[in-house]
Amino acid sequence: MKGRDILSLVELSSKEINLILQRSALIARQKRSPQQLKGKTVALIFQKPSTRTRVSFETAVAHLGGHPIYLSWNEMQLGRGETISDTARVLERYVDAIVARVYSHEDLVTLAETADVPVINGLSDKAHPCQILADLLTLVQYKKRLKGLKLAYIGDGNNVCNSLLVGCAKTGVNITVARPQGYGPDPEAIRNAKKAAEESGSTVVITEDSAEAAKDADAIYTDTFVSMGMEKEKETRLSTFIPKYQVNKELLRLSKPGAIFLHCLPAHRGDEVTEEVIDGPQSAVWDQAENRLHTAKALLSLIV
Ligand code: CP
Ligand code: NVA
Repeated sequence: MKGRDILSLVELSSKEINLILQRSALIARQKRSPQQLKGKTVALIFQKPSTRTRVSFETAVAHLGGHPIYLSWNEMQLGRGETISDTARVLERYVDAIVARVYSHEDLVTLAETADVPVINGLSDKAHPCQILADLLTLVQYKKRLKGLKLAYIGDGNNVCNSLLVGCAKTGVNITVARPQGYGPDPEAIRNAKKAAEESGSTVVITEDSAEAAKDADAIYTDTFVSMGMEKEKETRLSTFIPKYQVNKELLRLSKPGAIFLHCLPAHRGDEVTEEVIDGPQSAVWDQAENRLHTAKALLSLIV
């Protein structure tokens, strides 16, 4: 997998996803990480805020013996109009890989097409592949398998939902997405997920009915109703989503006994999830957040 760009999960085969998950589980058990990035540097470009993605990647690079360079978009010449492709041409002369969080997925594509080093998507408007690797690892840790599980994603059909669709379908997890009409997911992500599901023998269901999604689920997943960059739509979104799509005790009760609650974080208690669910006994969100570190290490060690 050396040299590969990871812009969504579409470019990875199910075998490769499973390899990353196996390596993540191994790394999670090791006290000291293999020094696979010794002497190497990784640029981390952020156009939007981040806690988990930034800190897990910085830590992952350091633990692997390399040196991370955090670059805020507006503190680079990018913020003053230098093009993405010119930036890519320069960075490839210095660093061994680039992780980037951007508003427009197209910018990532340009970065990856121009830079001769691997580019990893740290979140775009379309996809959040690194998050989904951590989510799948969390499912394996709690449920001991992926194939045949049912995951209900309830809420906004956003970047996380798009990648979750593809990641679940590729690994044999049956996924049902419940969201209001007109709020995603991306038609291309649905097409890709359905194609992958045919191969893995899993199912992809998109509905408006949150109870149908939650019924007999092994895991219930939600994300913010107001993603970064959508702040102007906040009021409309909250009034559209909260009444039918908030993950609360009543919705969780419809899932299987022992089902887990997942959230990529940051969470907005009282909006997409109630306090008693996220802080309750079925919540796996802190392990899920920890898994960002293990999966970041596994991914870097395989592609850089
Ligand atoms: N889940 C996630 O990507 O979190 P951050 O926005 O804090 O990086
Ligand atoms: N959907 C959210 C995810 C944050 C990690 C956003 O794009 O803001």
